[in-house]
Amino acid sequence: MSTALAPAPTPLDDLPERIRGLAINQIAEIADLAREDPAVIKLWIGEGDLPTPPFVVEAAAEAMRAGHTRYTYALGLPRLREALAAYHRRHWGVEVAESRFTITTGGMNAIMQGLQAILSPGDEVIYPAPHWPNLAATVQVLGGTAVPVPLHRDESGAFRLELADIEAAITPRTRVIAINSPSNPTGWVMQKGQMAALRDLARARGLWLLSDEVYNHFTYGNAIAPSFLEVCDASDRLLISNTFSKNWAMTGWRAGWLIFPEGMAPVFDNLSQYNTTSIPTFIQHACIAALEQGDGFIQTMVARCRESRRIFSEGLAAIPKVRVQAPEGSFYLMFSVEGETDSRALAVRILRQAKVGLAPGAAFGADPDGKLRLCFAVSPELARDAMARLDGYLRNL
Ligand SMILES: Cc1ncc(COP(=O)(O)O)c(C=O)c1O
Repeated sequence: MSTALAPAPTPLDDLPERIRGLAINQIAEIADLAREDPAVIKLWIGEGDLPTPPFVVEAAAEAMRAGHTRYTYALGLPRLREALAAYHRRHWGVEVAESRFTITTGGMNAIMQGLQAILSPGDEVIYPAPHWPNLAATVQVLGGTAVPVPLHRDESGAFRLELADIEAAITPRTRVIAINSPSNPTGWVMQKGQMAALRDLARARGLWLLSDEVYNHFTYGNAIAPSFLEVCDASDRLLISNTFSKNWAMTGWRAGWLIFPEGMAPVFDNLSQYNTTSIPTFIQHACIAALEQGDGFIQTMVARCRESRRIFSEGLAAIPKVRVQAPEGSFYLMFSVEGETDSRALAVRILRQAKVGLAPGAAFGADPDGKLRLCFAVSPELARDAMARLDGYLRNL
């Protein structure tokens, strides 16, 4: 008598559900369809078209030649942390002690290490949505629960957060409120008054704030977006994640930083040690150059974004079926097309027929009404070319 054997479990079956269940990144999924196609104008991923400035590249090369190729402090080079303190003093007028910084593998790993420090399995993280998908995924990796709270839209189409919505989402398991302002993908910018009100709420309920401020320089109304550092003390339960990627066109360098409350350096020394043991030492020297000589480059980046934002928002607004609102900050613009409800299918059609690569709104937990996200951190010439292609396609839908 033969007995049918159940198929042997594969290594994949053996993984914890929270890891096996991680969602496929829907932006990468679209990008994989045409990464190598030179005919496609690629506005899907969050990076500009400028190369890293030569003075940063040279600083890394010089550091390598000088032998800065060995281990360094897990928290990062003291000189880099001093340069970061000076950067925050210069731009926001805040004093942040050098002992409150740790250098991370990009903004992504700043969020990972920050949440590793404070999250226990089962803890909830509340955040306004649509949101960059990596936050919810990080919470999931750590065994927590992501709790999105939808942003509202004014009649004009501008995004708005109601703090009452955040308050209503708080449960006994809530541990963190995560804010990303200026926001990817919405461009929403939280104003200082609302930051202070959220700080009060977090203090009253004993919650942590995780503020992702990677697009702080990219605003089109104010000179610079406010930082939670301006409304919080060194003793508040506040983590700030940030990156060299966006300001200085350094996405591939994988360099970022995390700011934590006073007295927590030993915790983050350990977490860095056991994650990555800091980032490459010669890259840290390049980061010092970016901070000390790179303010002009940031201005160039923001000026290009301002012009390309104008080209896309005016161009899209002129198409009858398109609904769009110029974003207040970051370098993304979201738009929807009347009658289109499947953002992924629409992104694929635009990719195939207009040769413009966009990110589907569904990747950000947006309501499924065909929203698309476009990254406008490109030259005005490229923006005009992409806009002409989009116009040609969308007008005829
Ligand atoms: C909101 C937000 N936070 C953090 C990051 C992390 O960037 P990186 O890991 O390249 O520094 C990104 C990148 O797109 C982002 O959009």
